[in-house]
Amino acid sequence: VACSVGVADLSLGLYPDFMAKEIEQQPDVAERLITTWSGSILHGLWPSFSLPVPRHVTVVGCGTSLNAGRVVADLLARLGSIPFAAVEASELTSTATVPGSLALVLSQSGETADVLTALDVLHGRGHAVVALTNNPHSALARRAEAVMMCHAGPEIGVAATKTFVAQVLGGTCVVLSLLGCSGAVEQQRAQRLVRDLDRVPDALAQAIGASRRTIPQVLEGLTKASGYVFLGRGPGRIYADEGALKLKELTYRWAESHAAGELKHGPLALVEHGTPVIVVDDGSARMHATIAEVSARGAEITSIGGHGTSVPALGSPLAVALDTTVDWLGPLASVVALQIIARELAVALGRDVDKPRNLAKSVTVE
Ligand code: G6P
Repeated sequence: VACSVGVADLSLGLYPDFMAKEIEQQPDVAERLITTWSGSILHGLWPSFSLPVPRHVTVVGCGTSLNAGRVVADLLARLGSIPFAAVEASELTSTATVPGSLALVLSQSGETADVLTALDVLHGRGHAVVALTNNPHSALARRAEAVMMCHAGPEIGVAATKTFVAQVLGGTCVVLSLLGCSGAVEQQRAQRLVRDLDRVPDALAQAIGASRRTIPQVLEGLTKASGYVFLGRGPGRIYADEGALKLKELTYRWAESHAAGELKHGPLALVEHGTPVIVVDDGSARMHATIAEVSARGAEITSIGGHGTSVPALGSPLAVALDTTVDWLGPLASVVALQIIARELAVALGRDVDKPRNLAKSVTVE
């Protein structure tokens, strides 16, 4: 499918920065991607790769792309019981891989040096590679056995936003196709899951609105802090990692991300009166026990999810309420709130959100 680039894609228009524009584009990106692929998910997509159904998946990437890959592989594990390992591209040479594992390699640029070196290593070890990229002309796209295009359009801001959403949704299409076409998920259920994807653009748009309304209320408290703690459980853990990464990239401040249950095994010592704790809240009793623990120590809690307001006994944690109806997909809409928190905070601190210091859009050296 051709994806042409127009002048409008490369200009700011009325937006203050490209990151703001690219965050706002996410519902449209999702819509385009789902429209492009949904018709072929239960028919041609996976068969067109001509690959056997994997018994194991190795996810490889860097930064935000690696997080998107972890989300996709976690979905495959949950829906299809296919186990996976996620490896940073730069670590692949020194990490053993499961023989015969299918490699899912993600890179929005398709030109990241660490990724291309990892690709050589994967091929040297006999792994077939499925690439998930936003660049059809990239070295990754040319050299992989199969390519899934993300159709996010050009992303100018150095910190990835819309390409994360596009990679997660593109990868989700591949997962549903693999499971539907191989019979691992029965047809009616597979059709239901594919239909659910139609609701994703609205859920992302709703998340933009909810974030714009609520995040300004916490901004002052956030700017005063010097460090931030992000928590999540299950798939929400990966989103917490992505939120912390975004905040570090844009604000130049420290951010820790942990599985909620791990907090008590060490990181809790960081939490004191006023420490911002940003929770990708799955509404579970365990998560609320964790929220209670940090709340009792005076943490400033921002709960992102569909359930955040259900802990009234703890004062009034700020809740960004999201549409969580496509629950099997995990908390995809939470990434919008996490991106907006990082951007708003960075803008308030006077940072250049499109060109954070020390970072490059595509790192072509190892
Ligand atoms: C750089 C960027 C990150 C990005 C990573 C991977 O480090 O600063 O935002 O996530 O590269 O880029 P890729 O093009 O491989 O997805």
